[in-house]
Amino acid sequence: MVRNKSIAKAKQRWFADRYAQNAQFVSQMAYPLIELLNPKKGETILDLGCGNGALTKLISQKGANVIGVDASEDQILATKNLGITAIVMDGHKLAFRPVFDAILTNAALHWMTAPIDVLSGIRHALKPSGRLIGEMGGIGNIEKITSEIYASLRRRGLENHIEFPWYFPSQKEYKTHLENQGFYVKYINLFSRPTPLPGHFSDWMDTFAECFLLVLPEDDRAEFKKEVTDNLRPDLFDPIKGWVADYVRLRFSAVRR
Ligand SMILES: C[S@@+](CC[C@H](N)C(=O)[O-])C[C@H]1O[C@@H](n2cnc3c(N)ncnc32)[C@H](O)[C@@H]1O
Repeated sequence: MVRNKSIAKAKQRWFADRYAQNAQFVSQMAYPLIELLNPKKGETILDLGCGNGALTKLISQKGANVIGVDASEDQILATKNLGITAIVMDGHKLAFRPVFDAILTNAALHWMTAPIDVLSGIRHALKPSGRLIGEMGGIGNIEKITSEIYASLRRRGLENHIEFPWYFPSQKEYKTHLENQGFYVKYINLFSRPTPLPGHFSDWMDTFAECFLLVLPEDDRAEFKKEVTDNLRPDLFDPIKGWVADYVRLRFSAVRR
């Protein structure tokens, strides 16, 4: 796929009500991360890319003092409505002193396409020996989905109109980034996690791949979604489980040196 410099940056829009309706599975499938985080009473913990605060709330229920940050005002409002302290902030520009005992981040880092900037901010925000527990899309994540989206864009001559919106690193690449940014990597694992979706595939597209729809004329969006959906059906639709997305996750636990 040819990329050029004038290509438009992907536009992300997160609406808390749409997220609550279509994406609860994101936080629900991340409960093992809370175990890995093992939050303790009185600890100060940051949830980076907290979304609507579902995991942030769980951490606070363990007795930790938790703060959520997210780039979306709407998601932050939803998190605040749970009674959690939450701040609108771009994860590439984290502006914290080293006050956190631990940082949790789920399904958010792959939306931040400059990983060194993000990890540098995370490092500055952690106390020495502070823990970083994360899960994100890894290499191969939603490969079938993106390949059909790009095939449909190509048919319309639009494949070069939008930057690839995600960062899906390999285990080796991300481990190197972590180490270069001053972390000791205790655990890192890339694994395939076919993910049953709660509704129709087009809801997934609206929630997670809207940036592609936004480059299309409004009149063509429904047809585009139908085309991608029809082409993915043989691979991703199961008569019993319904739609199952081809997720690959990268999970890690690291400590600030
Ligand atoms: C798939 S949601 C995950 C939310 C939550 N962690 C969960 O488990 O449900 C991704 C979140 O990352 C946030 N996000 C994307 N880019 C970001 C950035 N540059 N800085 C901070 N948050 C960002 C989005 O606003 C969105 O709420």
